[in-house]
Amino acid sequence: MTSGVIRAIAPGRVNIIGDHTDYTGGLVLPMTIDRATIIEGRQQDGPLVLTSADDPSPAVVALDEDDPFHVTPQWARYVAGVVCEMRPARGFKGTITTTIPSGAGLSSSAALEVAVGLALGFDGTATELALLAQRAEQNASGVPCGIMDQLSIAAGNKLGPTLIDCHELTVTSVPFPDDLDIVVAYGHHRTLLGSEYATRVKECTEAEAIIGPLRLASMADTAQIADAVVRSRARHVISENQRVRDFVAAIQANARAAAGRLMVESHNSLRDDYHTSTAPMDALVTDLSSRKGVWGARMTGGGFGGCVVALTEPGLFQTDEDKRVWVVHPAPGAHLEHI
Ligand code: GLA
Repeated sequence: MTSGVIRAIAPGRVNIIGDHTDYTGGLVLPMTIDRATIIEGRQQDGPLVLTSADDPSPAVVALDEDDPFHVTPQWARYVAGVVCEMRPARGFKGTITTTIPSGAGLSSSAALEVAVGLALGFDGTATELALLAQRAEQNASGVPCGIMDQLSIAAGNKLGPTLIDCHELTVTSVPFPDDLDIVVAYGHHRTLLGSEYATRVKECTEAEAIIGPLRLASMADTAQIADAVVRSRARHVISENQRVRDFVAAIQANARAAAGRLMVESHNSLRDDYHTSTAPMDALVTDLSSRKGVWGARMTGGGFGGCVVALTEPGLFQTDEDKRVWVVHPAPGAHLEHI
């Protein structure tokens, strides 16, 4: 016997390597982490009503809402985006709590979308849920995001990071050695709204119009691109896909120094060719990666702020909420509990 109370749990994610490759169908290596968004309550007839511990204004979304972009408060747009895509027969009344910091690049919005989908009774595969949540995010924010965050969260597992092929939509576990810590350090607040994220997506489309899908292109192909900026964007994506492959091989061979070097190369490519890093994040990466016991560090996620991820010897750092340092561990992907 259950009480009818549902708990939808969706973790955040940290991307270990492979950024700005997902929207051209490339490779990424995110990990679902032990910080999550939890929605608890009951389905009901009528609207979806969620009360957040972090905001006095609840999200109240009618089941026929069709303009998520203008819903208030702002976080409720992601909720409305899911309602729009799902058109659920029944609403929901409940509370929402989260331990995922917002604006840190740890996918708090994707976790919210996936949790709402589960709470509303989404009935399909993890990939279908991720695609729905991706459309919800795009409509709610206007940002043409890729599939990494939503698929990582919907299909992740506690074995460790997952290699995702964003063209095939396949998800393969890549367990890490136990004696390796994954540390996330907060750089500064970011939002992809109004950032150059959409411009990067457009620049990749321009590159692909000249040399074909970037996921299949070689570095030599970039010579055909006359525009220096578009060429550098293509260079990042093509080299980053290769770094993801090399990183997975390095981890599987327990070649930690090589894996760490690839993380720093990834950061440098995002900084120099993709221009998604910032001076404080560069300084954080330089500081971390020069410390004894740190194998490598890089900005993670969309960039323009957010967090840095580092691979370190065990016990080098402890979680310190005040200093915004988190030692993260793999956690199960999104799931539902009936209480
Ligand atoms: C954001 C987007 C993702 C992905 C990353 C960069 O997190 O939501 O789809 O593009 O940036 O890798």
